[in-house]
Amino acid sequence: MERELALELVRVTELAALASAKWVGRGKKHEADDAATSAMRKMFDSVSIRGTVVIGEGEMDEAPMLYIGEEVGSMNGPEVDVAVDPLEGTDIVAKGRDNAISVLAIANKGNLLHAPDLYMEKLAFGPELAGKLSIEAPIEETLHTASRILKKSLSDLTVMILDRERHSSLISTLRKVGVRIRFLADGDVAGAIAPAMPESGVDMYVGSGGAPEGVLAAAALKCLGGELQGRLMPGNATEYQRCIDMGLTNPYQVLTMNDMVGDGDVIFAATGVTSGSFLKGVRYMPGDRAETDSLVMRAKTRTIRHIQAIHYLPNKSVLG
Ligand code: FBP
Repeated sequence: MERELALELVRVTELAALASAKWVGRGKKHEADDAATSAMRKMFDSVSIRGTVVIGEGEMDEAPMLYIGEEVGSMNGPEVDVAVDPLEGTDIVAKGRDNAISVLAIANKGNLLHAPDLYMEKLAFGPELAGKLSIEAPIEETLHTASRILKKSLSDLTVMILDRERHSSLISTLRKVGVRIRFLADGDVAGAIAPAMPESGVDMYVGSGGAPEGVLAAAALKCLGGELQGRLMPGNATEYQRCIDMGLTNPYQVLTMNDMVGDGDVIFAATGVTSGSFLKGVRYMPGDRAETDSLVMRAKTRTIRHIQAIHYLPNKSVLG
């Protein structure tokens, strides 16, 4: 994959973020998602790839655009797998809350896990802990190991988790161990990336969220030198069969970085829709202008680019 692709891809998340930001706080999550999806779909036409969506808006019969299997890109360029979430945090935007992003990742064909839309248990951490923790260890042990390696007392460790009833026993354990907890209302792609972003103040991400979001976060963590380990959580026989159909002989196996994003290059791009721990949301300015904050990264070189862009938006049609 050519390095110029990174800059082409960030335009895609910028446009999707601009389109969905129009819907902040309006109580309409589907409209916000549709606006992001059609803007992203449109912008992909100019990207120099022969891409196939492996993580997208759903199966072909349920999503009109960016469905799984859809071909995207200008069709000149490398053959790549594409994972997208045009609006990660639809409810966040509808309710005008923090932490929504527009996000995508690409990798050479065959490298991204075709994660089914079910829950995944996740453990994510930054470069200092990479290779040193296991999702299979009891969480108490993992926290003690992290505190030793990071040279922080347990009470100084910050763990991020989605604020969900299903996490009540895990939260009790975290409290018993004595770590600081930061709760997320939604948006666990940003949550799982946070431990690899020093400015976030987060040391570890735990708990369950969407499996597709897990693959997107793993792509980002690969570029940042961090790590995400996952384990799918099929909730019934149909979901279990979906895991088997995607080629996992044991649906409960630990999914490593290699299983999720392969061993080759990965490019990850994200733009803030509403503000979060490492990206600001879209800011509107006088004179038909809006400012965006994005992050675009490449695993091969581990270059991290923060891109602040001021857009002039005379053609508002694509933005809904
Ligand atoms: P959407 O953007 O699809 O609404 O996802 C938001 C999200 O918070 C994800 O970041 C997360 O992985 C998932 O929902 C968690 O699911 P649930 O809300 O069922 O706990």
